[in-house]
Amino acid sequence: MLMVRQNNFTNFIFDRGKKNRHRYYKIYPIFSHKIVAMSIIEPSKQNITKPQTTKKYTSALRLWHWGNFIIISGSLLTVAINSYILKGQTALKIVNDQLTKSGLNASNDQVRSVVVGLRDRVWDFHVYFGYCLASFLLFRIILEFFQPGDQKFFRHLTVLFRRYRVKENPADNTRHDLVVKSLYALFYVLLLIMACTGLSLAFYQDDPSLKSLMHTVKDVHNFCMYPILIFICVHLAGVFLAERQRSKGIVSDMINGGG
Ligand code: HEM
Ligand code: HEM
Repeated sequence: MLMVRQNNFTNFIFDRGKKNRHRYYKIYPIFSHKIVAMSIIEPSKQNITKPQTTKKYTSALRLWHWGNFIIISGSLLTVAINSYILKGQTALKIVNDQLTKSGLNASNDQVRSVVVGLRDRVWDFHVYFGYCLASFLLFRIILEFFQPGDQKFFRHLTVLFRRYRVKENPADNTRHDLVVKSLYALFYVLLLIMACTGLSLAFYQDDPSLKSLMHTVKDVHNFCMYPILIFICVHLAGVFLAERQRSKGIVSDMINGGG
């Protein structure tokens, strides 16, 4: 069936076919609203054999993604400030120099208490970001139950895993998609560990009876930051490559939902 556009209001449909061994040709006019209806049902962008190539993200998932991005960046910033600016001798020297410039002479202990006060203030912000991060994680878990069927993370992961095991079509992207999704799954696990250990530190860090346990919790919390940093680098590199190669528009899809 061929559609010939004539003007804004009328169009012609040129229909060719075979009925009872006779070829037929039909030309009939239709109005533009009928064409609009046809284009809605026409699966133009959808790749039927690989439906997973049509990316769509719900507004809630996008809200989670970009909110999470801002919160994690803020959280990492607080860690960076305390680890590089307000750390040890560097911070003591900055404060001491400033006091001397202002004509004040402070003892080492006094300078140290100023630095500790500043560090505690930055940790306060880290904990606020932490509460937001934990709430966002809870939101992401609840969201999973309300996502449309084909966009449920764990359903998608299981389907990919099954498809990979039976090797339905070795030439398709199953292996690649499975690796990407598994990385996301690993990240979610790390985020869960971070939230649980962080919340324990926020509530029980100063409890003397839990001192040695809190020490271990802090070590775990500290350690998990590194795989998270690695995930972020790999993720950004992956998104950059996808945008340049076979998934052009993937970043704007994560902004406007795609389609
Ligand atoms: C702190 C930084 C970031 C973290 C932790 C992060 C985390 C994630 C996670 C967990 C997903 C999977 C969501 C799901 O399907 O459940 C995802 C998807 C995605 N992210 Fe990020 N993201 C970060 C930064 C960014 C940035 C800066 C961009 C864009 C430049 C970006 C672009 C995307 C895109 C396009 C997807 C969809 C990819 C796909 O469908 O496989 N992300 N991100
Ligand atoms: C990506 C997320 C996070 C990263 C990278 C991160 C990283 C860190 C690091 C490196 C420390 C320093 C540990 C030390 O002093 O040895 C720390 C401390 C802490 N974090 Fe997190 N954290 C994150 C999420 C959270 C969350 C969700 C919470 C929950 C509220 C939280 C609460 C805390 C608390 C209470 C401390 C101890 C601060 C202090 O010493 O007073 N963090 N975090």
